[in-house]
Parts: sequence; C-alpha cells; structure tokens
Amino acid sequence: MKHNTMEFSIKNGATEKQRSDCVIVGVYESRKLSRAAQDIDEASSGYIENILKRGDMDGKLEASLMLHSVPGVLSERVLLVGLGKEQDFTETQYCKAVRASVKALATSGASDAVSYLAELPVKELSVRWKVAHMVEVSLDATYRFDAPKRKSDESKKEQKKKGVEKLGINVTQSSEVKEAEAGLTDGQALAKGVSLTKDLGNLPPNVCTPTYLAEQAVALGKKYGLKVEVLERSELKKMGMGSFLGVTQGSEEPPKLIVMQHLKGKKGQKPVVLVGKGITFDTGGISIKPGAEMDEMKYDMCGAASVLGTFKTIAEMDLPLNVIGVIPTCENMPDGRATRPGDVLTSMSGLTIEVLNTDAEGRLILCDALTYAERFEPSAVVDIATLTGACVIALGHHASGLFSNNDDLAKELLRAGEAALDRAWHMPMWDDYQPLLDSNFADMANIGGRAGGSITAACFLSRFAKKYEWAHLDIAGTAWKSGKEKGGTGRPVPLLTEFLVARANSAK
Ligand code: BES
Ligand code: MN
Ligand code: ZN
Repeated sequence: MKHNTMEFSIKNGATEKQRSDCVIVGVYESRKLSRAAQDIDEASSGYIENILKRGDMDGKLEASLMLHSVPGVLSERVLLVGLGKEQDFTETQYCKAVRASVKALATSGASDAVSYLAELPVKELSVRWKVAHMVEVSLDATYRFDAPKRKSDESKKEQKKKGVEKLGINVTQSSEVKEAEAGLTDGQALAKGVSLTKDLGNLPPNVCTPTYLAEQAVALGKKYGLKVEVLERSELKKMGMGSFLGVTQGSEEPPKLIVMQHLKGKKGQKPVVLVGKGITFDTGGISIKPGAEMDEMKYDMCGAASVLGTFKTIAEMDLPLNVIGVIPTCENMPDGRATRPGDVLTSMSGLTIEVLNTDAEGRLILCDALTYAERFEPSAVVDIATLTGACVIALGHHASGLFSNNDDLAKELLRAGEAALDRAWHMPMWDDYQPLLDSNFADMANIGGRAGGSITAACFLSRFAKKYEWAHLDIAGTAWKSGKEKGGTGRPVPLLTEFLVARANSAK
C-alpha cells in the first residue's frame, strides 16, 4: 500500500540560522518562550514577544500560529506551538504538541520543516524517547489509508500538495545526536508496524480474508527471513481443533492457522508467544448481530493485525528475542452449515464447549490457538483480541482490558503500556466468576451472561492457558475508531513492542 512518506533527520543547529520552509518552536501558556522560541525572539528583536502580547497566541496546549517572514530568521515560516502549562508538560502533552504541530504543517505550504520540540524538557524522558515519539506521532498523524476511490485530477493534485516531506528534529547538544539517531530508528520501526496494523484493519473484509492475512504473513517472512507456516483446514482437523473449526464452518472462505517465528534471541531461550484473534468478519453467525455498524466487524481481525504489525516492528529492529506469533483466522458467517446455538464442540484440549451464542466466537478460535501454543514451551503467552463489547462498556476507548493468570506478567504489560502511551487496565479474573460458564451439556458454555462479559470471556480463555504464564488483552475499545474518524489505530503494537524490547533488554 502506498502512503505519504516523511523523511526524518537529526539536526543540531541554531534556530534562527536554520534554512527550511518552517521551524517549529514551543510557547508555554504563561507566554513563556521555550529556548528555541527565545532564540527566534532575540534574532527578530522581540517579534515573538510582541505577537504574544497582542494576544494572537496564548500558548494553550495544541494551539498553533504560523508566522511568515520573521525578521532575522532564515526559514520562511515559524510555527509557534502551544505547550500548555509548563509544570503540566509531561509525555502526553509532549505528544499532543507534536501532533498539533504536524497537523498545522499539513495545511501549510511547507514541504520541509525543522522541529525544536524534542528539545523541550520533559520530566525523566530521554532524548531517545522524545525523538522516537516525535517520529511515531508524526507518522500516526499523517497516516492516510489509500482508499479505492475514483479520483478526479483535482483531488490527486490536492493529495500531492499536502504534507511535509522532510522533518528535521533538532537536539540541543551535539553529544545527543547519537541517542537521537537511535530514537529515530526506534520510532520508524514502530511506525511501520503500526501502519501495517492500521492498513490490515482498514481493508474491506472482501479483500482482507484469512487467505489474505496468510499471504501477508508469508510476505513478511520472506522480507525479513522469518519462518512462517500456514496450516490449512485439513491440518486443523488432524490436530482436533474442533472449536476453531466450529466457527469457520459457516463460511466459504477457508480458515488458516498462521504460525510465524522470529528467533533472534539466544538459542534455547523460551519464546514469548503472541496469539491474535483473526476474525476477518464477524456477522455473529446464527446468533446474528443487529445491522447497525455491522461493517465495523471487519475490524475483528485487529488482534491478528497487531501481531503482524508487531512482527514487522521487531523484525525492523532485529530485536534479539525469541518471539512466536500464532494467528487463528476465519470468518464468522450464518449458513446452512453454520454452528447452531446448542451445538457442542470438542476443543483441541479435549474440553467440550456448549455454544450458547455463536457470536461469542473469538474465544472459540483462541482456545485452540492457546492449546497449540503449548508446544513452544513459552516463557509467556499474550493473546490480543477484539473480544467483547462489554470491555468497551467497562473501559471506553482509552485503555485495553488486561487479564492475566500471573501478576508479574500483568505488571510488565501495564508498565509497557504506560511507557508506550498505549495503556491497558488490569481487570479482575477471580475464580468467583468461573461458575458463570457452567453448562449442563458440556465442560463449559461459551458465554457467561451479560454481567461482567469481558471477565467471563477472559475466564473462558484462562481454562486453556493453565500450562504457562498468560495474559489477555481485550482491544475491542482501542483497536479502531468509529464515526467521522473511522479507522484502525494500530494499537496495541506500541504496548507489545515496548513489552518485547524490555524483555530483550533484560535477557542481555
Ligand atoms: N467481535 C465481537 C466483540 C466486539 C463487539 C468488539 C463490538 C467490538 C465491538 C465478539 O465476537 C462478540 O460478538 N462478542 C459478544 C459476546 C457475547 C455474545 C457474549 C459481545 O461482546 O456482544
Ligand atoms: Mn462475535
Ligand atoms: Zn468477534
């Protein structure tokens, strides 16, 4: 897929002497100038102070003002970006200011710019972090899905004009350049994975089928030298994945179990296994969903997409860690052959499941993938799934739901989410909830009623994850946005990447 590309470079030079279409400098809310803004102000004999005094810009977070031909400054434009209150300026505000600066640039005529925002002091944050996030946020803010629309020549021109092509990132000290370069590499690697995850989610479900996902995995494997296997229906049958097969049987699209191996850690190091839900379209099956917004169920493969995206990122980073991805993928369709409510399925583990609602299909494909993961003797298994509407009700669209059978693993993932600004929230999974899954006709039912729906879904999965340390991320509220801004978010690739990078660092 084609995208707007932005080239980044690290700079270390005086603000007023920078020759570019635009220099970007910050202003705090009390009209306090950042160091770079001060340089511009001095070079222009108080031009910036004057503007602030006149009240054209108040320094409120995310506000911006584009100035042209500022005296004494070599760049054609100076973009003032509001930073909010200085004492409140932390990670989140930093990223918001960066996003606002990139958005303001996109509607200007500037095609190259140098940003001085990475110089801003943010408590306890390294230059590497600030540069990495500037790159990631900039690419996130300018992401465009190349939608298959008939384009008039006019709109083609319009698209060409938009957006900065080159963004320089200035650091204060020349001694920081090396660290900044490392941040640039991190940020670009992450952005590539995030962008892949968004693309796969955004693709229409008649294009992004299980077969398509498998092809993408194979292509990734070829590009980065990863081992990728695609298991077909016949192999799933042989392994006894009756639960997974029960979900796919109403669909004309063949199911796939994708297994990818990034083995760049020490020999014999137990791998981390990532398991991603890959329902390429969820109609609900015979327990069919209501019509409103059903199109959004094309995003029901975002767990799978986040595994593929994370693999792209860690492959780009050549991360020294053993990581295995397992993606069960199929459609959930109503049909004459589809699973009925009341059907009993036998999972690969041998446990039987009474399907009381065919719309609770995610757990049915994941449970067999979790059993399959046992063969890798994992150090940890993390599954990622757009699993329940109940999770959206509980946490909204800001945090992913986190469930785990191991508190240390949960803490590791929470910390990773905090560090990557891609947060999760730890949800309870006490045994008290388990009886809600009792069935008179099988070892368990696939639903536990409306109350605590995301918890009973996690409890269901936990029954198949007893042999290793396991965590489950319910990304139903975070994987995509609805409404006017409808589109994949690329989450939780930043969280997963941070988690794996930290594991690689502690394995050194
Ligand atoms: N893919 C959905 C979950 C979902 C729904 C995610 C809406 C995001 C937005 C999942 O397969 C599902 O349908 N879950 C049911 C479970 C219920 C039948 C127990 C749900 O959440 O309603
Ligand atoms: Mn469903
Ligand atoms: Zn689903």
